Amino acid sequence: MSSKDKTYSVIILAAGKGTRMCSNIPKVLHALNHRPLIDYCINLTSSLSAQAKVLVVQPEHDLLFPAFIHDEVSYATQDQQLGTAHAVRCGLEAIDDYHDVLILCGDMPLLKLETLERFVALIDKGSSAVLTSTFKNPFGYGRVVRDTKDNLLRIVEEKDAKEEKTINEVNSGVMYLAAQMVRETIHKIQTNNVQKEQYLTDIIEIAIQEGHNFLAINIADEDEVLGINSKRDLAMAESILRKRNAEALLDQGVTLIDPGRVDVRGKVTAGKDVTLDIGVILEGNVELGDNVYIGPYSLIKDTSIGAGTKILSHSVIEASVIGSHCSIGPFARIRPGAELEDAVKVGNFVEIKKTKIGKGSKANHFSYLGDTQIGEHTNIGAGAITCNYDGKSKHKTIIGNNSFVGTNASLVAPVEIGDNAFVAAGSVITENVPSDSLGIARAKQENKKDWDKKG
Ligand code: UD1
Ligand code: MG
Repeated sequence: MSSKDKTYSVIILAAGKGTRMCSNIPKVLHALNHRPLIDYCINLTSSLSAQAKVLVVQPEHDLLFPAFIHDEVSYATQDQQLGTAHAVRCGLEAIDDYHDVLILCGDMPLLKLETLERFVALIDKGSSAVLTSTFKNPFGYGRVVRDTKDNLLRIVEEKDAKEEKTINEVNSGVMYLAAQMVRETIHKIQTNNVQKEQYLTDIIEIAIQEGHNFLAINIADEDEVLGINSKRDLAMAESILRKRNAEALLDQGVTLIDPGRVDVRGKVTAGKDVTLDIGVILEGNVELGDNVYIGPYSLIKDTSIGAGTKILSHSVIEASVIGSHCSIGPFARIRPGAELEDAVKVGNFVEIKKTKIGKGSKANHFSYLGDTQIGEHTNIGAGAITCNYDGKSKHKTIIGNNSFVGTNASLVAPVEIGDNAFVAAGSVITENVPSDSLGIARAKQENKKDWDKKG
């Protein structure tokens, strides 16, 4: 039977105290690869053809959850954190229909959809099952106890385990509970354990004693069922994801100088012979053309970069379009709304915002260009600034083709500089400079002779 033929609802457990995170933030809202932990679980369930999807949270915590979750799932609250079985009972109260239930934990973000679908598909109608994995170091996880014929007997939690501590097969936290079984047995779970909690894992022994069929299906790999209980676990998950994402880039043919020091936080498409140096962060939707090089410690977010362009070290580029064969940086900041045509050069300590720069133009040192349109083959001198803000509104600067803006010029917007025009160094330009003209706006230099003798 395929997983799609089954009728079941999903309950996601996310009401735990998260004590081991040592934080005021609910555990499942901690960020992994820039997304809240719970987002991973919600994403997974949105691909499942489940009936109801219920998220069990602490009272008031639903208000903290990102808005996208509200469309996907309904909430159930668990007023007191009495354990995972109690959380499931709270979830069941929010489900009207008499379905099987698939239990997921909000703190296991790396689980793959194909594993979950395979798990559900392997369970016969009327049976229940727990998804398990074999860990090199099982410390902290519930141990799966089987009889000599490999049949599941029970799960023993770390804190209650004695000789079971040597068992390497662990409970992932994912369970599929048959409708009748769960409703007949869950209220029988006691709190006779070290933590005095209602453990969901205790349902196994009760169900088996009462004649229900309960399987342990060991098909998950160790990485994907990592449960995030502490900052150490979170850091481990981050490095697993970093590795997964780096490997996807390597598989696309991207050269990574050190795959352990590149972070992908979104979707990247890359052409041929792209190289990413160390410390590069790619966020959102990033498109890289053939032969793009991104230098050390640069952040590129929601941006497309044309073929042959070089981004030199420590540059930050957001929501922009960069043409081919450009050179950006080192230490350049390209803010949202920049459009750079081909062969543009932007050098160190240049900040660009909502600005279009035409083919072959340059701004090589220390400039601010905001709300500006620059033509082709124009040179913006060192320290030239567009004064785009008058304290209330933003204004535009327009500069034509083949023009030259001298060092340290201030262009007070709104203002236009024509084609083939010059602005003298140090000018404060408040009026338009027509094409083919020189605009000069500064006090005339006077040299006072014998100045030091005047006392
Ligand atoms: C749980 C399992 C353990 C398994 C491990 C896998 C139990 C008793 N133990 O342990 O066998 O190996 O997950 O990661 O089930 N939660 C609530 N309400 C509560 C308590 C917990 O909603 O009262 C939620 C938590 O938010 C979390 C999930 O249930 O998402 C699991 O709880 P957690 O405290 O993380 O259990 P583990 O100690 O990891
Ligand atoms: Mg956990």
